[in-house]
Amino acid sequence: MLDKTKKDWWKSAVFYQVYPKSFQDTNNDGIGDLPGIIQHLDYLERLGIDGIWLSPVYASPQKDNGYDISDYRSINPQLGTMEDMDKLIGEAGKRGITIIMDLVLNHSSNEHQWFLEAKSSRTSSRHDYYIWRDGTPDTPPNDMRAAFGGPAWTYVPEIGQYYFHHFSPWQPDLNWENPVLRQELYDMIRFWVEKGVGGFRLDVIDVIGKIPDRKITDNGPHLHEYIRELRQKAFKEDTLVTVGEAWSARVDTAKLYAAADGSELSMVFQFEHLCLDTDGKWDPIGLPLVSLKKCYERWQQGLYGTGWNSLFLENHDLPRIVSRWGDDGQYRVESAKMLAAMTHGMQGTPYIYQGEELGMTNIELPIELYDDLEIKNMYAERTAAGYAPKDIMESIYARGRDNARTPMQWSGESHAGFSQAEPWLPVNPNYTEINVKAALDDPNSIFFFYQKLIALRKQYAVFRDGTFTLLNPEDEKCFAYTRDTEEEHLLVVCNFTEETLPEVLPETFRGAETLLSNYPEPSGALRPYETRMLYLRT
Ligand code: GLC
Ligand code: CA
Repeated sequence: MLDKTKKDWWKSAVFYQVYPKSFQDTNNDGIGDLPGIIQHLDYLERLGIDGIWLSPVYASPQKDNGYDISDYRSINPQLGTMEDMDKLIGEAGKRGITIIMDLVLNHSSNEHQWFLEAKSSRTSSRHDYYIWRDGTPDTPPNDMRAAFGGPAWTYVPEIGQYYFHHFSPWQPDLNWENPVLRQELYDMIRFWVEKGVGGFRLDVIDVIGKIPDRKITDNGPHLHEYIRELRQKAFKEDTLVTVGEAWSARVDTAKLYAAADGSELSMVFQFEHLCLDTDGKWDPIGLPLVSLKKCYERWQQGLYGTGWNSLFLENHDLPRIVSRWGDDGQYRVESAKMLAAMTHGMQGTPYIYQGEELGMTNIELPIELYDDLEIKNMYAERTAAGYAPKDIMESIYARGRDNARTPMQWSGESHAGFSQAEPWLPVNPNYTEINVKAALDDPNSIFFFYQKLIALRKQYAVFRDGTFTLLNPEDEKCFAYTRDTEEEHLLVVCNFTEETLPEVLPETFRGAETLLSNYPEPSGALRPYETRMLYLRT
C-alpha cells in the first residue's frame, strides 16, 4: 500500500474511473448505484488500484448524467444515500483505495436552488451567481454556440435577460467573478474533504475564467488566479489529489495547472494525444502514429520536473480505445494489452476507465436507443442541416459518448450481471464473451495484464522518475521508447499493426529482463500488436 501521508503519493498511484450509473445495479431498477460500487471493491483491490475517480453522484436531474448538479451537498437518490456514500469512503479506505469525487464547478443544473433564485429577479441576492446579459427575445448578446449544440445564451422572459451556458441550457455557467459564489463553492468542498474524500477531479476547469463578451472561453485572464485561490482556500491539505480536466491545455499551459511547486493542482488531465490528425482537429478514427509519438514526446519531456500529467486513453466522454486504435476483432486481446503497456510505461498518473481492463468495445445502436444529450443534439442538428443519416450514424458509432457508457460486463448471465432489470442503456451484446468472470478465469486475460502493469509501477522507480526518449520517431508502425534513471532502464516496444515487424532492440538492452509481453515466448520479430517491456539495471 502506498504511504498516503506523503504529499505526492499520487505520483506512484493508479486510479480507476467509475461511472456509477453503469457500474453495478443492486436494487434492480436498471441503474447502477453506490451499493454496487461497494460490492465490487474487492475486485478493484485485486486489480491493485489506489484510488477511484467517481463520476458525479450528487443530486441531479440527470440531463447530462450528473454533470448537472442541483445540490452539491446531497446524493442522487437514484444512486443511494449519504450513508451509502460514507460507507463507500470507509470501505474503500480499508482496502487502500482513496475516493476522488468529480466536481463540476463551471456550471450547476438549472434546477439548483441558486439558479431558481437567480432567475426569479434581477435583484435576488443570488442573481449574480450566474452570467446574465440584457437583451430582447431575438437579440442574444452575441452568436456564441453551446458545446452541446444551439446558442450559448438562453432568454428568461420574466426578467428580460439571457444567461450564458457553455454546455446545454440545463447547465447554466456559474459566475466566477463573484467572490461570494466562489466562497460558497469552497465551503462546499470543505464539506466533502471533512467527510474523508481524498481529492477531486475538476470538470472543465479550463473554462471557469471565461469572458463571454469577448468570446473567451478557455484560458481566461483570471483563470489561474481562481485556481490558486481554490488551492489556498479549499484544497488546503497537501495530500489531496486534484486533477484538472483541461481540453485546451498544451504543454506550456499545463505547467501552470500542474506546477511542480504545488501552487495549483496535482495534475492536469489533457487530451492532446487524442485529438490528433493532420490538421490538428479531433479525429476519432484515424491514427497518425508519427504525430502521436511526437505528441507524447513533447509532453513527456516538456513536463519533466516541471509539472505532472495524467495518462489515459478512455473515459466516459471517449470511445473505447481498442475499437479506435486497436483491433476489436481478431487481435482484441493483443491490441488492448499493447495500448495499456504504451500508456502505463510513461511518466504520469495512469487512469483506467471501467471496462478498459476487460477490453470492452464500442457499440452500434439504432438512434432511438442512445441516451447521451450530445449524441441526440448532434443527430438533430445534422439531420436538419441535410446530412445523410448513414453518415451521422457512422460518426456516432466512432465517437459517441455512449460507447463508453454501456453497462459494465460482469458475467455471461442476463444483462451481463449488471442488473436483473432492463438497463438504462443497452448492454453490449459481446458480454457473453467479454466479462469479468471470464477475465478472472483466464490467467492471460487483459485484466491480469493491467494488474501486472500496476504492480510494476509500484516496484520500479523508473516508471515514476525516468526520463523519456523516443526511438525511431519516423517509424509509422511501431512506437518504441526508453525511460531512464541513473540505475534503471526501461524499454517499451509497441507494434501498432497486424503485420509482423522487425524487432526493435537497442544494443544496450541485449540480454535485458522481459518484464512483460503480450505473447508467451519472445521471437526474433514483433508479431501483430506485440508489445514488450524490457528492464535493466546498471
Ligand atoms: C466534462 C465531462 C462531460 C460533461 C461536460 C460538462 O467534459 O467529462 O461528461 O458533459 O464536462 O459538464
Ligand atoms: Ca439501482
